[in-house]
Amino acid sequence: MSHVLLIGFMGSGKSTVGRLLAKRLALPFVDLDKRIEQDSGVTVSELFAAEGEQAFRERERSALEALESEPDSVVACGGGVVVVDANRATLRTLGTVIYLRVSAGEALARIGDTTTRPLLAGPGAGIAATALMQARESLYVAAADIVIDTESKDKAAVVDEVLAALDEVAR
Ligand code: S3P
Repeated sequence: MSHVLLIGFMGSGKSTVGRLLAKRLALPFVDLDKRIEQDSGVTVSELFAAEGEQAFRERERSALEALESEPDSVVACGGGVVVVDANRATLRTLGTVIYLRVSAGEALARIGDTTTRPLLAGPGAGIAATALMQARESLYVAAADIVIDTESKDKAAVVDEVLAALDEVAR
């Protein structure tokens, strides 16, 4: 099993970089949040509002595990995938895990309108982002085979760095 899995905070560029990377590697692209939305028929925000975060995490866990029986692909995971212990083990078995690192400040600036991110919606988004990042940074690092710093970099440069790093681990 050798998917390429992108993890990292909301706004780290997982979806954009993932789509570009999939093209360069000639692999299918999977956006895990979009999968969950397709399977449930509602948006992630609606799921959080209707069922709460725990239920969303359960859906996310199943969507991640389902990749075990799918052809190799580039996968953009949701920013919180690493908070569930079982997911970090699943990520390892699925393939190569790449952490796209970004600061909370730059992540917020990239996201702009946070209304589609339930954990950052409302006032206090800056405080929430900083607290979440502090709680998660070590989990992202623990789950990753490769860490790419994306701060102040454009997406094309990040894709090139990811490809070079993948080449390196394949040697
Ligand atoms: C979340 C990140 C979101 C989405 C949900 C929860 C998180 O995905 O899964 O809102 O806990 O960080 P993105 O990282 O793609 O925004």
